[in-house]
Parts: sequence; C-alpha cells; structure tokens
Amino acid sequence: MHRPRGPPLERLRHHHGSGLKGRRRLSINLSVPSLENNTSTWGKEWDWSQRGEEWSAAWGGVSHQWWTTLFPRIQGYVPAGRILEIAPGYGRWTHFLRDLCDELIIVDIAENAIEYCRERFREDAHIRAHVGDGISLPMVTSDSIDLVFSFDSLVHAEADVMRRYLGELSRILASDGVAFLHHSNLEAYEPGTYDPDNVHWRAPTVSAALVEQAAAGMGLTCVSQEKVAWGNETMLLDCFSVITRAGSQFDRPNVVVENFGFATQEIPMSHRLSTQYPPSRPEIRFGDRAGETINTRQAHANALELLECGEPERARSTLHDQMRRAIDPEALNDLAVLTTQSGDSEAGIDLLRALVRLHPDHRAAAENLAALLDIQRPSGCSTVPNVAR
Ligand SMILES: C[S@@+](CC[C@H](N)C(=O)[O-])C[C@H]1O[C@@H](n2cnc3c(N)ncnc32)[C@H](O)[C@@H]1O
Repeated sequence: MHRPRGPPLERLRHHHGSGLKGRRRLSINLSVPSLENNTSTWGKEWDWSQRGEEWSAAWGGVSHQWWTTLFPRIQGYVPAGRILEIAPGYGRWTHFLRDLCDELIIVDIAENAIEYCRERFREDAHIRAHVGDGISLPMVTSDSIDLVFSFDSLVHAEADVMRRYLGELSRILASDGVAFLHHSNLEAYEPGTYDPDNVHWRAPTVSAALVEQAAAGMGLTCVSQEKVAWGNETMLLDCFSVITRAGSQFDRPNVVVENFGFATQEIPMSHRLSTQYPPSRPEIRFGDRAGETINTRQAHANALELLECGEPERARSTLHDQMRRAIDPEALNDLAVLTTQSGDSEAGIDLLRALVRLHPDHRAAAENLAALLDIQRPSGCSTVPNVAR
C-alpha cells in the first residue's frame, strides 16, 4: 500500500494502479512532473519505507513482476557486460539486474535513493551508484554500455529530460548496445479528453512517436515500442521503447504494438501465479554471475574510476572489500607462519598484519601476530606461532 506523506499524495496517488480510484478535485493545483518536482517528490517527500515494493502488489510481489513482466521483455539483451540503470529508486530492479552483468552503474536524482542502494548492495563490488542531475550521465564512459534499463521512473520525465537522456544514449551505448526505457505516452492524447488527475502523474509532453523521432535525430533507432494501458483498459498511457544504435545487431524497422490487456490480463495472470507458486528466493542468484565474485582486476578498475570521480573513500573501500574476498585467510595465515619458521619473521609479521587488517575477526592470525611481536621484544616469551590447521 502507498504511504505518501503531505502534498505528493494528491499528485501521486496514481503513480501506480494499486486499486485507488481517481477523484476529481476543484482546488488542487496539480503539479507537473518537472525535474524539480521529481527531485523533491522522490528525494524528500516520498515515504520509501517499503522501498517501492508496494508498487508490485498488483503482480503479487516484486519477484513475480520481474519474472512475468520485465524479464520476458529484456531476456534477449542479457547477460550484458555493462548495464546502466537510470532511476533505480531503492533498487527494486537493481536486485535482479546485478546478476545479469559484469558491471552495473545506477544513477538517480534522489540522494536518499543512491545512499540506500549503496548500503543495500554494499557486497556487490561491481555496482557503482551515482547521484545524477536528471538529464546527463557524465559518470558514464562513451561507447561503454551494453544495456540501459529504466522502469517505472521515466514515465514522470518530460520531453526535455527524455531528449537529453536520448542524447546521452547516443554517446554511451556500445556499438551493439540497447536501451529498454519505460516512458510516458500521454502526449498522444489531446489535453481535455482525459482526467489529468487520473493519469498516474505521466508526463504530458512525451509520446512513443516523440521518442522514436527524437532517437532518430540522434543516430539511434527505436526497434520496438509497446504502448501499454497502465492502470486502465482504454488509454495507452505508457510505452516500453527498445532503442539501439542505427546499424547495431538489434537494428530493424520499428515494431509497434498496442497492449490494452496489460492491466486486465497480464498483471492478473502474474497475480494468479503468485497465489499458487512462491517467489524466487532472495538468496538465490541468477544469471551468469551466479556464484561468481567480481575479479580483482575489475574491482581495481572500478576503484580507479571512483578515484577519478573524486571518491577516494569509496575507492578504498571497494578495494578493501575485494581484497578481503579474494584472500583465503587460512592460506595467508599459514604462509605467514611458514615464512616465520623458515627464518624471515619480519616478512611473517608483514603478512599477518595485512591479514589482520583485512580479517580482524581471524583469531589465529591475531594470536600469531601478537606472539611474533612478543618474541621480537627483548624480553619476549617463547610462544611459537602455529599453522592454523
Ligand atoms: C517511482 S520511483 C521508481 C524507482 C524504481 N525504478 C522502481 O521501479 O522501483 C522513480 C525514481 O525515479 C527517479 N527519477 C525521476 N526522474 C529522474 C531523472 N530525470 N533522472 C534520474 N532519476 C530520476 C526518482 O528519484 C525515483 O527514485
């Protein structure tokens, strides 16, 4: 259930069709989904205590929404080397995307969202999270992204924002890169023919046609556009656009479909499945990355990029986490002991110091280090360090 606070309740009660019916008001001045209003709504006013997972209720939960609505649409574009997620919020889709790539960059205008994602995905050294300005992606290298993903966010982005992001796509997409973008189609409808209070805060200046044309002007091609009746049966309020570079392996004439059954058939089907079959387990990792940890070289590259972005503390912690993961503490402890026993106690101490820094909870290493330091003291006792096992 939604738990918005304050004024956004009025404009956002229909962010998602969770069963609330629209209601006309006479005196409320509905805000437009400008960049400024998006920033204050999601950055300050929205109650994120459910991480946005409440928006998946109609599907029977986040897992069922991912596996029945999202994954079937992007399955042909993953796994991907490098994925960019625009506007992840509190990581509802990041959780799944992280298993489908070697590197995941997430960018949101809301600082709270990025802070939350950094904490939520702190074990995932291959995720880099950035606060963005809502229109540009300077933290993303040119020609580097294999898949851009954005869902349930850019529906609130007006034409100026969409045009700026499309311009960035033309710079950052790899030669066979592809973007899956969920955006508004409200501009296709004449103002006055709909109740502006009942369109889920969709951007009135954006349509499928506008995105297709803007993309074409930037050397990109729309290869698929699915217009979707979001939260209703008659108005194709939204569109899922797949965009690629002209000439890429995914390039083809645009395939445009009108999905009027999204809210009445597709979502209820997912919900029915959810009442019969359990969701995927959070501890199970899917995709190519399953069971795999990021390699040290990749973590090193990430850390250097973080340094370039002026974030030395996060660079240090990325490398620290990776080295901690990469080292077998038992083997390093035994190496230190054997090094000491073969006469090089200075080197043994250095190795143990590094181990204790990375694994302060490793008791044998801490005891061996203490013993060696003790022996080094002039009046040292005779405790001899032991191989751990
Ligand atoms: C409704 S939430 C959805 C979050 C997430 N996609 C999900 O489905 O759970 C919208 C998110 O989009 C972000 N956002 C809105 N406009 C944006 C823009 N122009 N650039 C980046 N993020 C934006 C907001 O800060 C917020 O986190």
